[in-house]
Amino acid sequence: MDMKTVSTENTLPSSGAILCVVGARPNFMKIAPIIRAFRSGPDPIPARLVHTGQHYDVEMNDAFFTQLQIPKPDIELEVGSASHALQTAGIMSRFEPVVDAESPRAVLVVGDVNSTIACALVAAKKHIPVIHVEAGLRSFDRDMPEEINRVLTDQISSLLFTTEPVARDNLLREGIDDKRIHFVGNVMIDTLKHCLGQAVPASRTLAEVPGSRRFLDGDSGFCVLTLHRPSNVDDPQVFRRLLETIRTASESIPVVFPVHPRTRKRVQELGLQNILETERIACLRPLGYLEMLGLVSAARLVMTDSGGLQEETTVVGVPCITLRNNTERPVTADQGTNTIVGQDSAKILAVVNEVLASGGKRGRVPELWDGRAAERIKQVVNDWLRHNDSPLVAAG
Ligand code: UD1
Repeated sequence: MDMKTVSTENTLPSSGAILCVVGARPNFMKIAPIIRAFRSGPDPIPARLVHTGQHYDVEMNDAFFTQLQIPKPDIELEVGSASHALQTAGIMSRFEPVVDAESPRAVLVVGDVNSTIACALVAAKKHIPVIHVEAGLRSFDRDMPEEINRVLTDQISSLLFTTEPVARDNLLREGIDDKRIHFVGNVMIDTLKHCLGQAVPASRTLAEVPGSRRFLDGDSGFCVLTLHRPSNVDDPQVFRRLLETIRTASESIPVVFPVHPRTRKRVQELGLQNILETERIACLRPLGYLEMLGLVSAARLVMTDSGGLQEETTVVGVPCITLRNNTERPVTADQGTNTIVGQDSAKILAVVNEVLASGGKRGRVPELWDGRAAERIKQVVNDWLRHNDSPLVAAG
């Protein structure tokens, strides 16, 4: 068996476009500004959009394409839901013939979902350079499927675009060549800035749940909650305790809870609906991007286990309580409005009360989170395309 290290060197001549990959909800906000930048202005970059189909519900998928004006994907792999192994393998086996047919110059992947590692791995094994946007983030928690996806994707990427300075340190420690790392800012924030003026007012979103419109009128304001991480919703005891804690917190501040499909399924399977049945908690369907942006911007507080919301709350200046023991986005806690609290009930309630009493962290917007990250990515990619014998391409 040939045990040579996989090379990401661009050894095959290729005249195709850059294949840009999306699969799951958080990818859509990241790809929108990249596709827009690549396809417009001087020096456009030929880009083709591939959708793996990891997320497929109207609420998890179509709504984002419409609201973020992402062009219809050129290629759809329609993989759907499955175990991690089956989903990753399914994406790989469907993506391989696409790479063969398209002969792309590079494959660009974003974030840390199963679609990210699956497509990166197919490309790297075919000696097609991989471009990773949002590289170098580390929670140092290998129990998270996303952490495994991040570490592995970065190892086989030729160009690595980072959102915060610590990401470069993480990559250097893992042996990635500094020349391949580019600190460009945060494409998620490009989308936020682009869409802020179109955000749907919270009053309109809350109008869909009887009684919750008055959350806007109370003195306390309202809290937005999201929960979907396996570490929070898979273990019945952990999930029950978290929901009970949220219910207690709701006595101090009403809670608006757009429920992820995975979480809704767990609530039903475990028979936990009764904990959420209080007029102080409004359970909503998963929201579109513009509805969520309007809601979060108007909130007094956000409680979440999402990665993207930690960043978005920092930019809109709303305190964020992260219901995890770690974050891969430390700049949101060091400079922004984020507090990492974990799953302990007493701690969560103490921090909620502290935020309600003091107004919470004010924070500041991190360096280069200015809405222009995709333009910087385009510039680097264009330079790289012009000199693609550059040492930037040489990989491990
Ligand atoms: C995935 C990502 C996670 C990201 C999240 C955002 C991985 C490993 N995880 O987690 O990093 O934060 O997306 O949502 O890639 N489902 C639907 N409709 C859909 C999609 C999923 O009902 O359109 C349900 C299915 O029951 C599915 C479950 O949600 O089994 C989980 O979906 P999956 O894509 O495996 O992971 P997420 O929890 O969404």
